Amino acid sequence: MKILGTGKALPTLSVTNDMLAQFLNTSDTWISTRTGIKERRLLSKEDLIDLSTIASEQAIQDAHLKVSDIDFIICSNVANTYVTPALSCIVQGNINATCPCIDINGACSGFIYALDIAESYLQAKKEIQNILIVCAEEPSRFTNWKERDTSVLFGDGAGAVVVTRGNNLKSINLTTSSKVDALYYQRKLEDTPYEEKNEGNGPLVMQGKDVFKLAVTSSVSDIETVMNKANVKPENIKYFVLHQANIRIIDTIRQQLNLPEEKFPHNIERYGNTSSASIPILLDEMRKDDQLKNGDLLVLSAFGAGFTTGACVIEWSENL
Ligand code: ACO
Repeated sequence: MKILGTGKALPTLSVTNDMLAQFLNTSDTWISTRTGIKERRLLSKEDLIDLSTIASEQAIQDAHLKVSDIDFIICSNVANTYVTPALSCIVQGNINATCPCIDINGACSGFIYALDIAESYLQAKKEIQNILIVCAEEPSRFTNWKERDTSVLFGDGAGAVVVTRGNNLKSINLTTSSKVDALYYQRKLEDTPYEEKNEGNGPLVMQGKDVFKLAVTSSVSDIETVMNKANVKPENIKYFVLHQANIRIIDTIRQQLNLPEEKFPHNIERYGNTSSASIPILLDEMRKDDQLKNGDLLVLSAFGAGFTTGACVIEWSENL
């Protein structure tokens, strides 16, 4: 597999920490020193379907393909207005594609899981050449905006890539260890004549310190695993593109791996944590800022609710 094109779409509304401090008992100093976030984009006038569609169209155009060249769509999403149909089906209609589609929910690790599924599909099915992966998330819709502990951390957005056949995925590693209490969001289902449950109906519950420790331990281990599997050393890696959850998590991982800051690009200061969209959004920015060159080796690494983790070593190739 190799990445042929990238795209992204972010809401127009930018919300600074000071804006949040107007209605939450928080401050720019607390949020920026504890998380690195200075502002985030939040959905207001647009919706997630708009963002998913724009990011997908950009990625297809960037890959120099036509919509009819896309053979499969994978959408990574935690929650959106529709439980069914899948968001990928809605995107498929909006971009006028006709291929099969599926949604996955690997939480913030969804992009790495989608890459692995895409790689397996390309290997297993001769008829599939090009796969669109779109990661679209609106965590602002499931955090509690009356409390300061989780709402300040997140932002909305969509990132997309188109992948095709190639030998650029050098190694990949996925893990899941069931730990529901650390991070979850429940939605209430309809009552039935036989079952009337007073079950949870959001908002997001997070044990921040537990997630922090799990994130650091698992990412360090995943990154070492994928570098070993690919038989590459840290000095061969141009960039470590990590899930943008908290700059202190990124820094702690970097310090444990004993690597310099310039190898760890970040945009969390502008977008907050956009869940599974964070890595494809960052990749798109790096690509459009000319930071990625043919032959660069990248490590991608993410962690999320589940608890799921995933990392890979991938070689960048420009689609000139
Ligand atoms: N503004 C001001 N004060 C706050 C805020 C806020 N927004 N949030 C918490 N505080 C207060 C707490 O009430 C506490 O006050 P106290 O000392 O009087 O009790 C104090 O700040 C310290 O709170 P902690 O929870 O200990 O702060 P910590 O340094 O652990 O940082 C944080 C909290 C940012 C959530 C951190 O634990 C973290 O980043 N964890 C990982 C979270 C994460 O990655 N979430 C993403 C989830 S999805 C995913 O991507 C996997």
